Amino acid sequence: MASNHATRVYDSILDLLPNEENPTPLVRLRRVVPFKHAVVYAKLEWYNPFGAVKDRVAANLIRDAEERGILGPGKKLVEATSGNTGVGLAMIGNARGYGLETPLSAAIPLEKRTTLRFFGTKVVELDDSLCPAPGAPEGAIATAREKAQSDPSYVALDQYANEANPGGHYRTTGPEIWRQTGGEVTHFVAGLGTCGTITGTGRFLKERNASVKVLGVYPEDGHDIPGVRSKRQLAQTKLYFPDEYDGEVEVTNREAFEMCLRLNREESIIAGPSSGMALAGALKLIPDEPGVVAVVIFPDNIFKYASSICRHFPEMAPPAKPGAEAAAPSRREQLFEAMMENLKNPHDSVRVTKLAAELAGGAAPLIIDVRPPDQYAEMHVPGAINIPQSELPNRKLELPEDRDAPIVMVCGIGKFSKETTLFLKSLGYRNVRNLKGGINEWVRKGQPTEGSGGTVAAAAASPAQAEG
Ligand SMILES: Cc1ncc(COP(=O)(O)O)c(C=O)c1O
Repeated sequence: MASNHATRVYDSILDLLPNEENPTPLVRLRRVVPFKHAVVYAKLEWYNPFGAVKDRVAANLIRDAEERGILGPGKKLVEATSGNTGVGLAMIGNARGYGLETPLSAAIPLEKRTTLRFFGTKVVELDDSLCPAPGAPEGAIATAREKAQSDPSYVALDQYANEANPGGHYRTTGPEIWRQTGGEVTHFVAGLGTCGTITGTGRFLKERNASVKVLGVYPEDGHDIPGVRSKRQLAQTKLYFPDEYDGEVEVTNREAFEMCLRLNREESIIAGPSSGMALAGALKLIPDEPGVVAVVIFPDNIFKYASSICRHFPEMAPPAKPGAEAAAPSRREQLFEAMMENLKNPHDSVRVTKLAAELAGGAAPLIIDVRPPDQYAEMHVPGAINIPQSELPNRKLELPEDRDAPIVMVCGIGKFSKETTLFLKSLGYRNVRNLKGGINEWVRKGQPTEGSGGTVAAAAASPAQAEG
C-alpha cells in the first residue's frame, strides 16, 4: 500500500520526511507574544520523523551525494555534529545501509551522545565547543574531514560547507511555509548554527516575494545552547551570508532559557532551548504592525535537554536523596562556579594577541598545555610543556620553585585550563594566567604552532585577526 499523507499510513519511515504535501505544523503563538497586530507562528520541527529540523538536511545531503555518485553501497558516513544532524544521518543511514561515525564535543548533553550510540553510531568525544568550532584544528569538523581523507570507505558530507544543507531547506522548508501561509508570510526568523535553515529557506521565500524579511538570531559568546553559534563563530561559518538577510540580533543564554520555559508553561509547546532563543530574538526584530505574518523555526523539543534544564533551573534538578528537598547547588559548587567566572578578569586570563606579543618580546612565560599527550603532540604553542590535567596533582615537582614565575595554562577551548589555573593558584603561584579560547583561538588568530604536524609559522594577519 503506497504511503498516504491524508490517512498517515506509510510504506517506510522515510516517507514521513517533510515536504509540501507533508509539512511540519505551524502553530500560532498567543500568550508569550506581546503584539496587538503582528501574527507569529512557530514551525514545529520535532514533527519530523527523527525529531528535529536536521532531518531535512540529513535527507538532502544523502540524496545529493547518492545522485552525485559519491555515496553508495559499502560506504560509511563521518560527520561532525552537535547532535541533531547525527540523529538524522544515523536513522536515514540505518534505513539505507550506511554506518555513521560522529566526532563531537564531550560537552554535548549526555542524552544526545547516548541516543546516537543507541542508534548504532560510533561516537568519538572531543574537547571542542558545543556547536563544533569552525577552524578548530583537532575539533570535530577537522577530525571528520581527516577521517574521510585518510580512509576512502568513509564519506564526509560536511553539513558546514555543503550547499545541499541550505538546499534541503530550499526544497522543503521554504515551499511548505509559502503554501501554509498562502503566500502571506512577511517575516521569516531562524536561529543561526550552520545557517542552512536561514539561507535555504530565505532564498526560496525571497524568490517568491522579494519583500519577505529574513531575520537571524544568534546566542551570546560562551552560551550553552546546542546547535547554534555566537557572532564570533559565525564569522567563520561558510553558509553564513549576512548580505542575504535583512537583520539579526543577539540573545543571552538567560533570555533563551527563560523563553523556552515560558513556551512550555504558557503555550504548552514542548520547545527546546534554541527555539526559545529564536523566539526571544524574533520578538526584538518583528514590527508589531497590521498585516505582519511571521514564521519562526522551532528546531527541536525539550525532551533531549534534561541536563541543560538542571543547569539553568537548579531547583528542577532531582533531589540528591529521595525525599530530600531539591538541593540547590552546594555552597562549594556555587563558590567554584563563581571562582571560574572571576578568572575571566584581565589579570588571570590572557588573550592570544597579548601572549603572542610576550613571546615575541622575549618575556616568554612558562606555558603548560594540560590536554592529553596525543593532542599536545599533534600541535601546541611553541615552547609549551605538556602536563595533562589529570596528572598535574602528581607532577607538582615539575613546576617552578619561584611562586612569582609567569605561567600560562592552555587547553583546547580555555575551559579545563581555567580549572588548572585555579589549582596552581591554590599552590601559591601568583602569576598564573589562563589562555582565553585555548589552542583553538591561538590557531584561529593565525599564531605559530609546533607538533607532529610540523612547525607552522604565524599566518599573515587577516583584517579580522588584525582587529585582535
Ligand atoms: C537544536 C538546533 N537549533 C538550531 C540549529 C541551527 O540550524 P542551522 O544549522 O540550519 O543554522 C540547529 C542546527 O544544528 C540545531 O540542532
